[in-house]
Amino acid sequence: MPKYSFRLNGERVQVDAPADLAALWTLRDKLGVTGPKYGCGINVCKACTSLVDGKAFNPCATNTSDLQGRDITTIEGLADGDVLHPVQEAWLEQDVPQCGYCQPGQIMSAVDLLRRTSNPTDAEIDAIENVCRCGTYFRVRQAIKSAAAKIQAAGGVDVAGLAPGAGGGAVSASDVSAPVEVAAGSSALAATGGAGTVAAAGAAVVGAGAVAAKVAEHLREQDGPAPA
Ligand code: FES
Ligand code: FES
Repeated sequence: MPKYSFRLNGERVQVDAPADLAALWTLRDKLGVTGPKYGCGINVCKACTSLVDGKAFNPCATNTSDLQGRDITTIEGLADGDVLHPVQEAWLEQDVPQCGYCQPGQIMSAVDLLRRTSNPTDAEIDAIENVCRCGTYFRVRQAIKSAAAKIQAAGGVDVAGLAPGAGGGAVSASDVSAPVEVAAGSSALAATGGAGTVAAAGAAVVGAGAVAAKVAEHLREQDGPAPA
């Protein structure tokens, strides 16, 4: 089976996978990164939205071989340690998620938009194609506008150090010459989509363990104890 090397959330990784295996399954099943969600598998719902070289892409419709040498960011890689990305902060402040299932993809699409357009119009926000079965679109719009203001107040540079529109930059061959394996299931928390999953939804928005604890604390203040 071929080996592919790429950068995933700042770490160099190497994975054995069939060339035509959807990148979503390589990320989720082989590398344990479950922030990108499966909704349709045909590049329609956008639940799996992540970034390749700083731009939105849909791993359900991307071959694993196309990850070779690229720089992939999922929701798990958005925060800088315990410091949330401005889009994540805005999502929490606006209480955007309901069940949470679509929210990692919504956030990654918002990050992509704000890198292309520092002050998006309603029409530009409406052009985002991510589907939300819970109908959180109004709060998504509010959160994107709030995040845009946060990024501008910070001088137009987001937590990842990229000015809007700058993109992420491709990974050079030397970047991936010494890949390391990523521990499976290291950081992701999946939203379950059932009743009483507000805390799980919040965790899915953020993705990383330390930050998920911060989210759970935030939600406890509002809604009482989080489910185990
Ligand atoms: S699962 Fe990727 S677009 Fe629907
Ligand atoms: S599908 Fe979007 S919050 Fe439930």
